[in-house]
Amino acid sequence: MLTKIGLLGYGNVGAGVARLVKTEAQLLDDKLGWPLSLVKAVVRNLSANRGFASDPGVLTTDPHEVVGNPEIQVVCELMGGIEPARTLILEALSAGQHVVTANKALLATHGIEIFKKAAEANRDVMFEAAVAGAIPVIRTLKEGLTANRIQSLYGILNGTTNHIISRMSKDALTFQEALAESQAAGYAEADPSSDIDGLDAAHKLVLLSALAYGVLPRLEDIHVEGISLLEPVDFAFASEFGYVIKLLAISCLHDGHGPLEVRLHPAMIPSGHLLAGVNGVMNAIMIRGHASGDIFLSGPGAGMMPTASSVVGDIIEVARSHLSMASTLRPPLLGWRNLKAEAVMPMSEALLGYYLRFAVLDKPGVLSAISGVFGRHNISLAQVIQKGQDPRTGLVNLVMLTHRALERDLQAAVAEARKMETVGDTRLIRVEESL
Ligand code: HSE
Repeated sequence: MLTKIGLLGYGNVGAGVARLVKTEAQLLDDKLGWPLSLVKAVVRNLSANRGFASDPGVLTTDPHEVVGNPEIQVVCELMGGIEPARTLILEALSAGQHVVTANKALLATHGIEIFKKAAEANRDVMFEAAVAGAIPVIRTLKEGLTANRIQSLYGILNGTTNHIISRMSKDALTFQEALAESQAAGYAEADPSSDIDGLDAAHKLVLLSALAYGVLPRLEDIHVEGISLLEPVDFAFASEFGYVIKLLAISCLHDGHGPLEVRLHPAMIPSGHLLAGVNGVMNAIMIRGHASGDIFLSGPGAGMMPTASSVVGDIIEVARSHLSMASTLRPPLLGWRNLKAEAVMPMSEALLGYYLRFAVLDKPGVLSAISGVFGRHNISLAQVIQKGQDPRTGLVNLVMLTHRALERDLQAAVAEARKMETVGDTRLIRVEESL
């Protein structure tokens, strides 16, 4: 018995997979009961320098030496992007091959098509590496917590933004300074937009929501807000209120019952919360199950070997089930027989606390005018601070924390306050007290 693997993509993660399969061959054999063998790896350029040298004859530029190759049972798609990854995965499933992928963008946007094809072909699609790198959160939701009704899931799902935020928080760096530092350290990419605008984490949130609730939300129905508008002063105010700021991926049952809320935005959370202590490039997820209570997972969310750890874990899982379940019914691949076509709650219905910062003229009547606007929109203020005059503009920061309010009312009040002549720059950060 031998399980034969082919890789589509031999970049950082692909080379990490090759390294684990080769250098830990005995360990993996001992755990699985038979060896794994990397047969082929598809590259764009045969002569490029890679993180781990492959055996002679393994590298090829032709994807069809992997996809549809009857010798190869497990195809690992590590090339990223939508095409040609989508077509190659569908072809591999049609050809009877199992698929392991780290491609969150593809699964979040074309998951239904791919999982449908896999079910028809009675083959596995595994994707532990697509969410939170080395953290076994897919397996936790699919297997360990399967007896639970999931009530909420809060995650720090992007290491690059968490690194930037940690630097802004610790050393009062501006967003641009922290981003430049993150790029120099090799965490942020040259074009960092997918990370900093929240899209990367939103893709991961879509997949986690599907596993947790049996609902695959449409990306366009999710409120997604990145970190580029955060300023050092917001971190300082957060600290005064006993909070830290994190880019949080949230899916939860509204008020504990429903509908499903799915959103991704910077949020203030109590500084004593476990998620508040997750800094640098680390990722973490807090899952609340009705029977399990709170489960907290944390670890490296990216990187060559942490991601390879999850890919090889999936290969082993496929190899195990491939042998033991080949002739029986396969369990649903997202852990649910049918995904529900349930609408996600509109962001306007969210009921949250808010931190608001207005740059205002420091003159009589300004505070009462702004608080009047909030009162008229049914929003109750919990705390107000005014300080920090900007010597260039003469404006001061008027900072307010609200009690829980409807997002719709809050946005209407902020829009009205922004129109006032005495009000300049405005910032809004949601406060998550009940996580
Ligand atoms: N760029 C991601 C991060 C890793 O910084 O967490 C891949 O999803």
